[in-house]
Amino acid sequence: MDKKTFYITTPIYYPSDKLHIGHSYTTVAADAMARFKRLTGYDVFFLTGTDEHGQKIQRKAEEHGKTPKEYVDEIVAWIKELWKTLDVSYDKFIRTTDEYHVKAVQNIFRKLYDQGDIYKGAYEGWYCTPCETFFTEHQLADGKCPDCGRPVELIKEEAYFFRLSKYQDKMIEYIESHPDFIQPPSRRNEMINNFLKPGLEDLCVSRTSFDWGIPVPFDEKHVVYVWIDALSNYITALGYSLENDGLYNKYWPADVHLVGKEIVRFHTIIWPIMLMALGLPIPKKVFGHGWLILEGGKMSKSKGNVVDPRVLVDLYGVDAVRYFLLREIPFGADGVFSNRALVDRINFDLANDLGNLLSRTVTMIEKYFGGKIPAPGIGDAIDDELKTMAEDLPDKVEKLMDGLEFSGALQEIWKFIGRANKYIDETMPWSLAKDSGKEQRLATVLYNLAEALRIISVHISPFMPHTPAKIREQLGIEDENLAAWESIKTWGRLPAGLSVSRKEIIFPRIEGSAQIGGEESKDGEIKTPSESGKSSEETGKASEDARSSTDKAVDGTKEDGANLISIDEFARVQLRVAEVLEAEKVQGADKLLKLSIKIGEEIRQIVAGIAKHYAPDQLVGKKIVVVANLKPAKLRGIESQGMLLAASNGEKLALLTVDKDIESGARIK
Ligand code: ME8
Ligand code: MG
Repeated sequence: MDKKTFYITTPIYYPSDKLHIGHSYTTVAADAMARFKRLTGYDVFFLTGTDEHGQKIQRKAEEHGKTPKEYVDEIVAWIKELWKTLDVSYDKFIRTTDEYHVKAVQNIFRKLYDQGDIYKGAYEGWYCTPCETFFTEHQLADGKCPDCGRPVELIKEEAYFFRLSKYQDKMIEYIESHPDFIQPPSRRNEMINNFLKPGLEDLCVSRTSFDWGIPVPFDEKHVVYVWIDALSNYITALGYSLENDGLYNKYWPADVHLVGKEIVRFHTIIWPIMLMALGLPIPKKVFGHGWLILEGGKMSKSKGNVVDPRVLVDLYGVDAVRYFLLREIPFGADGVFSNRALVDRINFDLANDLGNLLSRTVTMIEKYFGGKIPAPGIGDAIDDELKTMAEDLPDKVEKLMDGLEFSGALQEIWKFIGRANKYIDETMPWSLAKDSGKEQRLATVLYNLAEALRIISVHISPFMPHTPAKIREQLGIEDENLAAWESIKTWGRLPAGLSVSRKEIIFPRIEGSAQIGGEESKDGEIKTPSESGKSSEETGKASEDARSSTDKAVDGTKEDGANLISIDEFARVQLRVAEVLEAEKVQGADKLLKLSIKIGEEIRQIVAGIAKHYAPDQLVGKKIVVVANLKPAKLRGIESQGMLLAASNGEKLALLTVDKDIESGARIK
């Protein structure tokens, strides 16, 4: 029997060498979904690519003294590298400059024109070049682009129009009768109430004021509006309207388009109307996810407050970054990105919950059974809870994943990890080992833990491409069948007798206080495996700041309202004014300065990664802002007793100071 197909897409990205963690978010989510569907038996097609035409790109290329094609070629190579770094397993990468795409878009434009859905008229309106979007006078916000707030240009030209208005009622009816089409539901209401009900105007779909675009096939002084060009990628990539349209026949309609919330409108109004007009099926789902926000607003290429995903991967590893992105923020909501939250997730969820479960289990099998997974002996009621939870997990996870609830799915998996850790505390293998009559019971406990870890390794595989193999290697599992989805639906498939071996710790704890932007964090001390993540199988006590993920769900601090913090939480951070008394370079670390600072009567030493931006002399006498109650951390062996605050966009860095003179030690609130 043929496998069921699953077609998933990301948006195609505007070429920019400043792709940031926000873009990686959509792509990593799509990748996790694609991997999950492959794991659960689907024939998956996962498409991503680049959106390369338009005035914005043409202008950028000119600024760089390049032709648009030269300009985008370089960037596209860079973007492909980035996806490699993040282990994005796309099946196809489409570029809108690809010849077949150009041809297919021309076919689409011509067909719509021939049937009267595109007609020639004249356009006068306001255009936002960065957003590549037209606005009517009344859509502007204070005369500026309502989406990005930047200036718009008045444009007047002969143009082609697409009869959106003709399809308005059909579109409303479609959305209302297909409640799954726009997700999450809040975005559906927004589309109907804010855009469709007030009335659709025909859309201007050609331009003559620049030429970096796909020529209108029958009127070559016009180029096709970049959104018509871009949206078509989802079917041109499959060969629609071309000689070889096998993929189109196999995979269309898409199961899901993942898009950021600001482009839901294009995907749920213009795109389905194009498809209706072409007589083609409409995608099953468009999911509009939220934004990753940095303090100061949405991350964006033009604002400069970018977090470079490559730096994060360098620092923390790809599995940790992917885990964080999908775990921290419920997929539909906005969420604040912070390095602190990332480090917390690594330390609590990965190093502590998962890493310790593995190292405790493997260590005990080595110690009590000579490194061979024992066959289970005597059971106990307490085992059933673990077993039942394991057997219920695949269905739960699958339901959540089908709703694109990545965070929810990971939460369920981590509940199970928490349960397994608790099982160790309850069964106390170290005390069973002391009692010669309990060997059969001890065998069961350790078998169950190894089996739980095997099951966990399969569940996390869509999210983390590398960790599952490391876990299975330590458990001595080589048989691929034991990594299959079906194999985790029944408890006990793990054969006894496999040889375990302790390897390096899968997620070393991260110490110190790395800062956003990568600069400082590069010098932030990351402990080596040998000194961190100490397993504590004997005492059964996890390290001091260990909290299981279930605890977090109970106290609610991590799951509530998309990462908003309360005033009390903010108040835990003590910000104080400090005067810089002395400053000097740190030997052998070209980014670090060691400062002696005065906070009220107290003198402290802090280490800061600002040496590239400030000379020591410039700092002496300055009143700066520091976090006074940060746990001390060592940077290059020097203790830092606090952290100074600085604004940074990756290139520039500026220290925070006070606006008027005020004595050092003053509190900031
Ligand atoms: O919109 N957080 O391209 P794009 C989360 N070419 N997602 C973010 C983000 C952030 N801070 N910043 C960007 C385009 N994104 C068009 C798409 S599709 C036919 C054409 C997401 O490079 C954004 O929401 O501006 C969007 O989904 C994607 O990155 C591409 O953005
Ligand atoms: Mg954008």
